[in-house]
Amino acid sequence: MPVSSPLMEDLLLQISYTLTDIDEAVVKFWDVCGSYHVFAFSGDLGAGKTTFIHKLCDYLHVQDAVSSPTFALINEYHFSGQNGKDNTIFHLDWYRLRDTAEAINAGMEDCLAQACRGAAFCFIEWPEKAQELLQPPYLWINIETMDITRREMTVKRVGK
Ligand SMILES: Nc1ncnc2c1ncn2[C@@H]1O[C@H](COP(=O)(O)OP(=O)(O)OP(=O)(O)O)[C@@H](O)[C@H]1O
Ligand SMILES: [Mg+2]
Repeated sequence: MPVSSPLMEDLLLQISYTLTDIDEAVVKFWDVCGSYHVFAFSGDLGAGKTTFIHKLCDYLHVQDAVSSPTFALINEYHFSGQNGKDNTIFHLDWYRLRDTAEAINAGMEDCLAQACRGAAFCFIEWPEKAQELLQPPYLWINIETMDITRREMTVKRVGK
C-alpha cells in the first residue's frame, strides 16, 4: 500500500522559456502562483533564478531598483498591489550561507515569518542551504538548463 508523505507535493506548473518569451512565462507563473508567499527557487549556478526573479519584479512594478543580491543576503523591494496596498518582497540569496544556523543569524526567520502570515513575499535563491526554515505551504521552483538559451521550470507546492 502506498504510504503518503507528510509533505504533500503537487505539480502546479511546468513551462519552458527563453529570454525572448520570459515575460509570458512570468505572467503564467504569477497567474498560477501569485496567491503564495514563500517561493524557493532552486537550480544550478547560472540556471536563471535571479533573471526570473528580476523579470517577475518588473512585472509587479517594483518601485525600487532591483539590484542583484550577489553581495546582499536580503534585498527588500516594494510594489503596490490591488487597492494601492503596499507589498513587500524579500529577495533572499542563501548561496553564501553554510547552514540553518547562519541563516537564522542573518535574520531570515523574520522575513519568512512575515511571508507566512501573508505580510510579505519571500523569493529565495539556494533554499537548500537552510531548507528546515521553510514551513509548508510553500512553492518549490526548479529551473533546469535545457540548452544555452532555454530553461525549463517546474513549480511544486509543498504542503497544503
Ligand atoms: N531562458 C533563460 N532564462 C534565464 N536566463 C537565461 C536564459 N537563457 C539564457 N540565460 C542566461 O543565463 C544566465 C542566468 O544567470 P542568473 O544570474 O539569472 O542565474 P542564477 O540561477 O541566479 O545563478 P546563481 O546561482 O549564480 O545566483 C544569464 O546570463 C542569462 O542571460
Ligand atoms: Mg542568482
